[in-house]
Amino acid sequence: MTPMGASDESAIASTAARFDAPVSVLEPIARDLTRQMARGLVGEPSSLKMLRTFTRQPSGHERGRVMVVDWGGTKARAGLVELGAGGVTRIVAEEALTFSESDKRGAPEPVFDLIARAVGRVARGHGVTAAPLAFIYSYPARLERIDRAVALASTKGWRLKGLEGQDVAVLLGAALRRAGLDRIVVAAVANDTVATLMLQSYRARGRDAGAAPADVGLILGTGTNLAADLGPAGIRNLESGNFDGVGAVGTPYDAALDREIDEPPPGAQRFEKMVSGHYLGELLRRALEDLGKRTGQFRWSASPAFTTPFALDSASLSRIAADHTAGLDDVAAWLRSLGASSTPEERWGVRALTAAIARRSARLVAAALVGTLRFLDAELADRRTIAVDGSVWGGYPGFEALVREAIVELLGGERAGRIATAYVKDSTGAGAAVIAAVAVAQRSE
Ligand code: BGC
Repeated sequence: MTPMGASDESAIASTAARFDAPVSVLEPIARDLTRQMARGLVGEPSSLKMLRTFTRQPSGHERGRVMVVDWGGTKARAGLVELGAGGVTRIVAEEALTFSESDKRGAPEPVFDLIARAVGRVARGHGVTAAPLAFIYSYPARLERIDRAVALASTKGWRLKGLEGQDVAVLLGAALRRAGLDRIVVAAVANDTVATLMLQSYRARGRDAGAAPADVGLILGTGTNLAADLGPAGIRNLESGNFDGVGAVGTPYDAALDREIDEPPPGAQRFEKMVSGHYLGELLRRALEDLGKRTGQFRWSASPAFTTPFALDSASLSRIAADHTAGLDDVAAWLRSLGASSTPEERWGVRALTAAIARRSARLVAAALVGTLRFLDAELADRRTIAVDGSVWGGYPGFEALVREAIVELLGGERAGRIATAYVKDSTGAGAAVIAAVAVAQRSE
């Protein structure tokens, strides 16, 4: 290890600066997103799919017990949820499942069987023999009805053989029957962003029938996406992770990441690859590896703990950002756990890169939110609520403040002041139940 010299310091600073996203660059990104929403909605070429959801805002009076399945990453959950008075939801029971890397590349049926068996355990444990089930499928899917969802190309590292083109409600229904659960019926399929939006609306309207519903649902976790209530065009799933208007803030690390990972393929999920939890650690890893080669520092970044793709996760970034000790003691401990003994200067370098990567993520999210809200209301004259969930939003220290700062830069304080964000933690299961209850009500009308 060589002592940190001025040239190493400036290499670190200039690497961090590659992740800058000034407002002059964010503004055209926001405008592009608004334009691409319009194009996607009328079926013109667009990186935004603007998928239909076949649900409508809840009244807040929905009641009942619903089985839910939440599948959107390495984990899935089966649960039983109760909707009560006053916008209150209760998770009666829940069971989590973890999938292996090989599950992600195999046939769909074994995955659906694992999920169905978990539903069976939760149902039997609570004497449920017949119930509607809401299936939160947090990958791109083209809904044709509330209970018919044709899988499109997957995201977040999943590629089940032959899944694309199949109705995921039919696949889950068949697995439920194989598990002996004939009377648990898939009543609704929805995206997690829609669940977040609907849960926020349900809570607000359950407390006060006249309350405005949420306008936008945002997930910022392993993946990212937006849903928005477009009024006459209904609630739409933008699949904003695929937004491609981000070239102006791309670094060489983004370009290499996009090129080198095969799932999602190059060119797909460009926005998600820059902002979501599945990728933030990987961007840090690539930046460290590069600095290790170009400077006299970070030599440990040549060890397998750092050269393996996806070796660093976004929880590590949150941990790095949360260390407020003078010597960055916890960053040191984290590095030690990966076999690296670091200097204080190196730790400050790691922290600077982490902050730059997270800040760019927050600023891109802000641009996407502004672009979406302007589609709803070009002048941003009315109050708007964005319902948010996800591990990056909830876990990275100060993330929300970074997003707000960029929204203020983009819109000015007055307009930004009309935009509220509501963090709806663990919204998927409860939001799913709201969607199923709305579907049941819609059917009986
Ligand atoms: C998926 C979306 C999902 C988002 C957040 C993305 O990778 O394509 O459908 O909403 O992740 O989970």
